[in-house]
Amino acid sequence: MTKTTTHEPVITIDGPSGAGKGSVSRAVAKKLGCRYVDTGAMYRAVAWMATHDGLALDDEPAVSALADRVEMTLDDQTVLIEGHDVTSAIRTAHIDAAAARVARMPAVRDVLVRRQRAYAAAGGLVMEGRDIGTTVFPEADVKIYLDASPEERAVRRASDPAHGLGRPKAALSSVASALEARDHSDRTRKSSPLVKAGDAVHVDTTGTPLDGVVEQVLDIVRQRLAAAGFSTHFI
Ligand code: DC
Repeated sequence: MTKTTTHEPVITIDGPSGAGKGSVSRAVAKKLGCRYVDTGAMYRAVAWMATHDGLALDDEPAVSALADRVEMTLDDQTVLIEGHDVTSAIRTAHIDAAAARVARMPAVRDVLVRRQRAYAAAGGLVMEGRDIGTTVFPEADVKIYLDASPEERAVRRASDPAHGLGRPKAALSSVASALEARDHSDRTRKSSPLVKAGDAVHVDTTGTPLDGVVEQVLDIVRQRLAAAGFSTHFI
């Protein structure tokens, strides 16, 4: 008998900075008609708001209370926090570092994980981050772990216009060392470090152009959704 699945699909895309998660997740969500959520933008927006409000970034009770109460709206184009359009402002080198600090705090993570889970109630979802397949949605329908060599990730990050603000003349070597420091922080923190979920499909994007990676990931997603009995609408 053919298996059918009635819930809406949850697809997780995790991996280090510069692996191409944003572009790939956005494209996959669009193809499948699912919502795209960038959880890194949530950590960034909280870091921006904490800085804006003059909070100490190591004040875990204050920053987590802020993460809990702030109004945040994300779509695939813009990020709003308490009515401020921070879409570009959260991509500076300063917020890169501030977001990594905020993301190390378990109380902040607890609040944001709860907010991230709430998105699944509203329909099909492609969510990208670091711990989505391991912690946020361990039962996700499809899990992808995107990676690329450190050299290629640094080149991509340095040439990404979304990340150009505040460092127009950023030399590749300084982008590479900032990326390495942030990766180290993400991989070694105690609370939900960046790690591949045991059941995630590892996709190495080194040397593959974006549209090739999107096709590869879409193939995996479609095969898995078909095997799980999802309606052809998603496949
Ligand atoms: O993906 P990004 O570079 O925009 O993420 C910003 C920071 O937040 C980065 O230090 C990783 C961290 N992060 C996290 O710890 N967990 C997530 N689910 C998403 C991002």
